[in-house]
Amino acid sequence: MTDVNLNHLLEKMTIEEKVGQLVQLATPFFKGATDRGEITGPMVQMNISEEDIKHTGSVLGASGAKETTNIQRVHMEENRLGIPLLFMSDIVHGFKTIFPVPLAISSSWDLDLAEKSAAIAAEEAAASGVHVTFAPMVDLSREPRWGRVMEGTGEDPHLNSEFARSFVRGFQGDFENDHSKVAACVKHFAAYGAPEAGRDYNTVDMSVWQLRENYLPAYKAALDEGCEMVMTAFNILNGVPSTGNEELMRGILRGEWGFEGPLISDWGAVKELIPHGVAEDAKQAAEKAMKASVDIEMMTSCYTNHVRELIEEGTLEEAIVDEAVLRILRLKKKLGLFENPYRGTSEEKEAAVILSEENRKTARELASKSIVLLKNDEVLPLDSGQKTALVGPFSTSTDILGPWSWGGSSEDTITVNTGFLNHIKKEKLFISEGCGIEEGTEGQLQSALEQAEKAEVIVVALGEHSDMSGEAGSRADIRIPEVQLDLLRKMKELGKPVVAVLFNGRPLDLREVIENADAVIEAWYPGTEGGNALADIIFGKVNPSGKLTMSMPYSVGQVPIYYNRYSTGRPKNAPDAQVRYVSQYLDIPNEPLYPFGYGLSYSQFEYGELTLSSNEMKYDEQLTVTTTVSNTGDKAGDEVVQLYIRDLVGDVVRPLRELKDFKKISLEPGESEEVIFQLNESQLRYYHANMEHKSDAGEFEVFVGTNSRDVRSQTFRLVK
Ligand code: BGC
Repeated sequence: MTDVNLNHLLEKMTIEEKVGQLVQLATPFFKGATDRGEITGPMVQMNISEEDIKHTGSVLGASGAKETTNIQRVHMEENRLGIPLLFMSDIVHGFKTIFPVPLAISSSWDLDLAEKSAAIAAEEAAASGVHVTFAPMVDLSREPRWGRVMEGTGEDPHLNSEFARSFVRGFQGDFENDHSKVAACVKHFAAYGAPEAGRDYNTVDMSVWQLRENYLPAYKAALDEGCEMVMTAFNILNGVPSTGNEELMRGILRGEWGFEGPLISDWGAVKELIPHGVAEDAKQAAEKAMKASVDIEMMTSCYTNHVRELIEEGTLEEAIVDEAVLRILRLKKKLGLFENPYRGTSEEKEAAVILSEENRKTARELASKSIVLLKNDEVLPLDSGQKTALVGPFSTSTDILGPWSWGGSSEDTITVNTGFLNHIKKEKLFISEGCGIEEGTEGQLQSALEQAEKAEVIVVALGEHSDMSGEAGSRADIRIPEVQLDLLRKMKELGKPVVAVLFNGRPLDLREVIENADAVIEAWYPGTEGGNALADIIFGKVNPSGKLTMSMPYSVGQVPIYYNRYSTGRPKNAPDAQVRYVSQYLDIPNEPLYPFGYGLSYSQFEYGELTLSSNEMKYDEQLTVTTTVSNTGDKAGDEVVQLYIRDLVGDVVRPLRELKDFKKISLEPGESEEVIFQLNESQLRYYHANMEHKSDAGEFEVFVGTNSRDVRSQTFRLVK
């Protein structure tokens, strides 16, 4: 069908049919769903009739070729105009083959592998009938208390933008022709990652300058890569909930950026305009969301119940409804649903691709590259000939997939103990949980002590269960629960080398873990192949190369903490700084425990002199920044070489460091590589006080190093 045909189709549609396209309901609402069961209760509550369901435009959360085919078949029989349903689901870091959580994926700094993981997720999901994934989630966050940091790719706008692009390429590719791809929906627009005090759904309040400088770039990057859909955020932004925010949606998203695809509310967010206190009832909520150009209402019925009335009384122009319907129909057309409502759905394909050996292999590789080695006092890698105790609640747990892995299953998950047994003989491994995640018994502790007594080295697998992060998973105390710390202390008291391994979805306050372990590994939620990936690292089959993409705070009192901070007028450590009247804490350091970009390897990398092609750069020129990195260790390894800049004098304050580029290199023992970066003027632009995005002539510092703290620097001038 052409666009003209879509207009004809629109002309034939009744108001109810149009409004139906603007509605998204969960799978059980649809005839043909396996678990339709008792849906009358929710339907009555939402005032939705069977007739409304026949008009509905999209389905939330359906998957499985059998069921999606069934739902679509019944729908096509019942929908008067034969408009196919759109199936949308959260395929965030894998569908059945679960990859590490996105925060972990970002720690790999491997954009190609991130793209490949999204492509695999898309292929598995598309075979099972999904058309659109609610991903990537690109909310920049400096808030480890916020449980959803695990869904994003960290605190840096440049890195977030790069990952946003990779994920969109991986999910979508050539989705109009290639039905093993799905359309992507970037979320949550906007600035959902900055809730006050880290409490989910809480107030977001920031200057337009901050928003544009740090929070908006990743959404824009996803759209520049062709991302088809956008989801609103739950939060308010400067007083107005995103879901009813005309300035944000019609102003920036559609007006300034020219986004023409469907905008969907987050779950229930249209109706939440009422408790936010900006709509007096569902009718006004519908009006505000429609006027903000929110095309699809997810899981509430303000549109179903009130749009007709709003049009009839002249509060809402029918043209607004029409433009929304057209945006949705256009996406259905692009996906090829008018030609084939079943698109890539296929039980045979499902059987062939889901959890294939190839997919698992990629999951294992990505998980091992996502793991960050935080500390290693010559303990790791372990020798598999040693007697090893494996204790802690994660030693046998399948809860290592992460909070957004509803499609994954525990039976398919490689646990830590299983992974270990691929490297070490059964008689050399002594396993005991020692405690649960938040509670434990004396008996559990004693049994772990007995196992540890038999061993030469102790691995303690600690962490947060997956409900402790993710949506509605905010924590004020970001330490490992006390019972687990106690287990760790008891293990340390045995006087044997202790390796702590962490499974968690956020940066944590790790002071006590660091004190009580000789080596510390951040494994995040590593996914289906997690146990194998971890064992590959621990036993030295893979050399760790992951680097943090969020600062690990020293204490929760530093939060929000981020590397690209500003100087203040009274910086600590300035040559002429006073003792007291400087910007500092009296009781803790200003610096995080581990900085952005940090992560160790079993090799050592030495950085040579940093040289610039010139100490001046004209606006139309490039500056070449060169250094030599050498592997002085005795193992082959990968290193992420990072380039930061600082604009020394700006129209507004400039960060002390800003990541502008990075390269991941592989070096054999003894090998050196010249690493060359090209800088140009466009990378030096920023938002001025009047919101102009441009650079200023003047002096800059450029830094290259192994993390955001340990760098070498040079200066240059940008000249007209
Ligand atoms: C989440 C979204 C998600 C949606 C649909 C919401 O609660 O905030 O990220 O896409 O549910 O599952």
